Amino acid sequence: MKTPRTLLWLTAVALLLSGILLMQVWRLREEVRQAPAQAKAPAADFELAVHMTRLQQHMEKLYWAIDAHNGPLARFYAHELEETAEAILAANVIDEGVDISGNLRLHLTPVLHSLADSLKSPHWQAMPATYLRVVQSCNNCHVASKHDFIRIQVPARPSWSNQDFRLP
Ligand code: HEC
Repeated sequence: MKTPRTLLWLTAVALLLSGILLMQVWRLREEVRQAPAQAKAPAADFELAVHMTRLQQHMEKLYWAIDAHNGPLARFYAHELEETAEAILAANVIDEGVDISGNLRLHLTPVLHSLADSLKSPHWQAMPATYLRVVQSCNNCHVASKHDFIRIQVPARPSWSNQDFRLP
């Protein structure tokens, strides 16, 4: 009577332990399965073109703010450019094997830093050259990212006729 009972107990304990073990293995498997998906997630639903359009818009407005010698407005757009750049960096975008975020860090980030610096107390005569360096860095990155056909330039006339770029 004693032996079968002990056996029953032992079987129960063994079943319980293997149950726990199975659950652990399952949990680990799930973690491993989800890990790469999570790492890729930001880039998967990230719209690079939308962010580029934002860069384009703020670049143009920055030009007219500089043209009107409007310091606060120029600093505002320089900051907007930095925010968009940071969003692209944070998304770790890889597009057709090209490290977009890495390229941006290389080409645009340092130029935006010096733009912000020169806008602290702007020397307006020097600003067009500073602006042109930002335009060039946009294009350098387009070349580096297999999009050399997208060419940014200094704007000819304001697209936004409903905004006054002059100081109030
Ligand atoms: C990482 C390097 C990189 C930098 C820096 C960069 N771009 Fe781009 N840009 C790209 C890539 C890549 C595309 C193509 C996006 C796509 O495939 O959807 C693009 C697309 C564009 C487009 C086309 C989207 C449209 O709606 O027409 C515009 C405009 C643009 N960029 C403007 C700019 C401006 C302005 C700057 C500088 C302030 C800039 N880009 C800086 C890589 C860059």
